Amino acid sequence: MLVGMRLRKKIHRIKPRIKNFFSKKILARLDEEGIFLAKLYYFFLDSSFNREMLSVLLGKKVHNSRNENLESNQAFLRRSTHRIEKGLIVPKQKKHYALGYIYDTCRILRVTYKDIDEKSLSWVVDVLDAYFKRADDTLDVIKKSKKEFDAIRSKISIQQEPNIKSIPFEHKELEASKIAFSDYLKLTERRHSVRYFENGLVDKTLIENAVSAGLQSPSACNRQPFEVLVLQDKNVISKAVELPMGVQTFKDEIKNLAIVLGDLSYYSEERDRHIIYIDSGLFVMSFVLGLEAQGLSSCVINWPDIEERENSLYKQFKIPKHKRCICFIAFGYAKSKGLVPFSEKKEASDIVMYNEYSNR
Ligand SMILES: Cc1cc2nc3c(=O)[nH]c(=O)nc-3n(C[C@H](O)[C@H](O)[C@H](O)COP(=O)(O)O)c2cc1C
Repeated sequence: MLVGMRLRKKIHRIKPRIKNFFSKKILARLDEEGIFLAKLYYFFLDSSFNREMLSVLLGKKVHNSRNENLESNQAFLRRSTHRIEKGLIVPKQKKHYALGYIYDTCRILRVTYKDIDEKSLSWVVDVLDAYFKRADDTLDVIKKSKKEFDAIRSKISIQQEPNIKSIPFEHKELEASKIAFSDYLKLTERRHSVRYFENGLVDKTLIENAVSAGLQSPSACNRQPFEVLVLQDKNVISKAVELPMGVQTFKDEIKNLAIVLGDLSYYSEERDRHIIYIDSGLFVMSFVLGLEAQGLSSCVINWPDIEERENSLYKQFKIPKHKRCICFIAFGYAKSKGLVPFSEKKEASDIVMYNEYSNR
């Protein structure tokens, strides 16, 4: 037993040296045998991607099982509704489309309609109504889908005014923006990451106003695969702020904290695994500007992908592993006396290229 312990200690001691030795060899030959060596590296020397792989697979499992077992599935419903509304705007309408998924869309609507918000439900129902008005009901698949849809339609009561329909419309019907570009720019320039806040909880109405602004952001197939956990309890916050790394100098200043989570169960394909980060990032920017427009300040806080920290976060809030933390956001009223870093930005000419890529 003593020998075993000594051996384990020795291995533990020399492990970084072994890793360093093989890392150098692998990195030196990466250009020639790229993918193979990258796989070797991450299989034997570094486990950083393990939890990402697990979360992507768990997301796929949850997604597929919802479909196979006909369970509530907002992701599927939102995506297919969006695909159908896109079909409705094509200038030269196809005679048949969505035949591969229209029946499943109606079946999934049956098991999901109680779980989605009212506005989204109106959108789904109006789009399907519009689709069936144009669809060729001599086809069997349309006939059975329509039958399924009509059966659910009769159970759904929508409060929306009957003349307001969530279906494609002419772009010119949109109210013109009264915000001059200079005003928009001023708002973006006024926003600075603020790390020192006055005491006081932000009113839920203001939070939800900013969330509503965030929710206007584009998202892949309009799925919006994210959630926001808002913390305003001092004790809960004090535990949570121990987890990210870049917050240690101002963690006691945070009175309002948002944790943005991405949900990988919205996808069945690995190719879509980055969408949670893209969609959440777009949401966060509009959310933060929404706070700014209401006189509130914020600081986005990096979520480092470190196993122990992720486990602690998941345990503290009982988060399932197919959801991933995207970032934290501290927010509130900026302290009347407190500095903010200048953080000069790049110039447009520094990052824009026209028509040709130039490696800088
Ligand atoms: C993804 C992301 C992660 C960040 N993480 C931290 C962090 O951990 N700690 C921190 O103090 N600031 C963090 N920031 C804030 C940045 O430092 C800040 O946005 C940047 O310096 C530009 O300054 P500005 O936000 O005032 O324009 C983060 C910002 C982003 C977008």
